[in-house]
Amino acid sequence: MTDISGEAPAPRSGVGQGRVRVWDPLLRIFHWGLVAAFAVAWLSAEDMQPVHELAGYTIAGLIAFRLVWGLVGSRYARFAQFLRGPRAALGYLGDMARGQERRYLGHNPAGAAMIVALLLALSGTAFTGWLMEEPERVAMLPDLPRIVAPAHADADGEYGEVGEGGEVLEEAHEVLANMTLLLIALHLAGVVLASVRHHENLARAMITGKKRSPGSGDIA
Ligand code: HEM
Ligand code: HEM
Repeated sequence: MTDISGEAPAPRSGVGQGRVRVWDPLLRIFHWGLVAAFAVAWLSAEDMQPVHELAGYTIAGLIAFRLVWGLVGSRYARFAQFLRGPRAALGYLGDMARGQERRYLGHNPAGAAMIVALLLALSGTAFTGWLMEEPERVAMLPDLPRIVAPAHADADGEYGEVGEGGEVLEEAHEVLANMTLLLIALHLAGVVLASVRHHENLARAMITGKKRSPGSGDIA
């Protein structure tokens, strides 16, 4: 069998005997850093603005890192290894409903779709937060003012008070933040469900980086 980790090859028989490195250290730091930064952003929203913004920018930085790491990172961190179309994700959910889904050593197709959704929702939240900080930032965008702040440009096309356009942005920021929270709840449900179904603690694997070596029928 191919050595997937750079470590000693896993035993072929006796599923559960060997463990292999799946998540590299930077990916794990990214994950838990994201969890911490999101918690801080959430808890500091509304009354600790500087902390809130710092946490938001930290999230944006972590996402930027993840995009690069998805291209040049270790095997299971690469987008090409786990990104599949919506059909694969739906097919996997169907298999799950029938209790027939296979075990993936890396991200399964439904988990992969969730990663995309989480990264998009987090980016949108951070971006709208950044935009509403300064009305001029909205004005810098060629198309957005017409959508979010048309009533606000004065005769010179200047944006004064955050006002109505700002309120739309604030609303968008809040909706995106709440959507992210909902996705996180689904993400956690998926992690628990997959952990139960495949008899392994996936949260621990995101700490240690190691998972049970693939058995026959698993997808490595
Ligand atoms: C304590 C709460 C959490 C636990 C236990 C947890 C656990 C996990 C696990 C086990 C995976 C790997 C899934 C797999 O095996 O395919 C994962 C991936 C991921 N989680 Fe979480 N998660 C938590 C909270 C969060 C939060 C709050 C966010 C977003 C703010 C998040 C974003 C992600 C992302 C983006 C990935 C993909 C990792 C990658 O880049 O490859 N998670 N999480
Ligand atoms: C992904 C990261 C972020 C999350 C999860 C997040 C979440 C939130 C939440 C839940 C609120 C409260 C909305 C409400 O109930 O009114 C909020 C408000 C706000 N956020 Fe963010 N935010 C993030 C990033 C940012 C960034 C990067 C900035 C600016 C640089 C920012 C600026 C603001 C501002 C100005 C408010 C309005 C505070 C107020 O007047 O009540 N946010 N954010």
